[in-house]
Amino acid sequence: MMRDYIATTLGGLEPVLVQELESFGATDIEPGQRMARFKGDIELLYQICYSARTTLRVLEPLASFRILSEKDLYWKTFDLPWRKVLGPDQTFAITGVINSRMFPHTNYPSLVVKDALCDRIRRDIGRRPDVDRDQPDIRINLHIFEDQVDISLDAVGSSMHMRGYRRYQGLAPLNEVLAAGLIRLAGWTPDIPLWDPMCGSGTILTEAAEWAIGRPSQIRRGRFGFQGWIDHEPGIWRKVKLADREETIPEGLELFGADQDADIIEGARKNIRGAGLGEIIMTEVCDFFQLKPPGKPVMIIMNPPYDEKIPLEEAEDFYKRIGDKLKKDFTGSTAWILSANKTAMRQIGLQSSQRFQVFNGPLAAEFCEYRLF
Ligand SMILES: C[S@@+](CC[C@H](N)C(=O)[O-])C[C@H]1O[C@@H](n2cnc3c(N)ncnc32)[C@H](O)[C@@H]1O
Repeated sequence: MMRDYIATTLGGLEPVLVQELESFGATDIEPGQRMARFKGDIELLYQICYSARTTLRVLEPLASFRILSEKDLYWKTFDLPWRKVLGPDQTFAITGVINSRMFPHTNYPSLVVKDALCDRIRRDIGRRPDVDRDQPDIRINLHIFEDQVDISLDAVGSSMHMRGYRRYQGLAPLNEVLAAGLIRLAGWTPDIPLWDPMCGSGTILTEAAEWAIGRPSQIRRGRFGFQGWIDHEPGIWRKVKLADREETIPEGLELFGADQDADIIEGARKNIRGAGLGEIIMTEVCDFFQLKPPGKPVMIIMNPPYDEKIPLEEAEDFYKRIGDKLKKDFTGSTAWILSANKTAMRQIGLQSSQRFQVFNGPLAAEFCEYRLF
């Protein structure tokens, strides 16, 4: 049976989210802001929850309505068929994303929805389910924008950027979903040598490696939200998990990372070895400006300090030197640079051939391509 789902992502990654959903066989994909709607069966849902890399959350919509007041929120929630969703012996938690002048206290609508849900189940069968914030059977997602309310079930349970491989964080680690999205926006394929010469904790390279060898993004996750759903299909879930176990290293895969800070590289190596990728990702302690030229075309994807979290004495001069180094030693290569420091980016002194705006946390960042002829 085909159902409607929503996949959420970070701002700017919508086009690659759509590509990834298509690659899984999702249909009727409709991109929106930081999300895409799609249709699929339960097997497709499980595949996406297990493997997708550009998705933050996967939701199954339950209800969508407008409200006039807090009372209206209570009664419209009370009227939903909760018994089809939640048994009295199951626990639940509500995650709210509230942006409405009706509710200055953003926690409050979640309490209203919790009361309505519990009151309704108690009226129907005499008992009410309990809240468990940490390990609920069912995680309910409440989204309110002004008077528009959307209630859905969270199929994964917590944000999918938590892959479980990054024990060491470095100075300013990239969100894993953003790193996966950048690799796709850049159009990298595993036959192109990929270099990250300011690799920090190694997120870009780890995402590239795991994607290239066909590893599901959530392989280390113990439990998925859908496993608590009343209509969960354990047989189909088992099939999805077992089918995805095969890992193959594509011929010619070359992933190289460097950072000037020896402690940071040590941390990155711990992450990489912990993920079983020690044979696939090579790393070196090296100042970018001293790095030996690759002697062949490579794709660079790098995320230099922005002068935000990491102080840079002379941000503009630093970016100018990055541009000079690229021009001098990387002829024939392509460099993609992510930075939220737009003024400094202009000092690179190269004409960008593509430019995307993406959000790195609250920071609007630019992701620019420079072809080094
Ligand atoms: C924003 S962080 C990169 C974060 C990384 N993408 C991650 O996910 O962990 C920038 C990194 O550049 C490194 N760096 C700064 N100047 C450098 C230089 N001249 N050569 C090499 N690495 C440098 C810093 O040590 C830092 O780890």
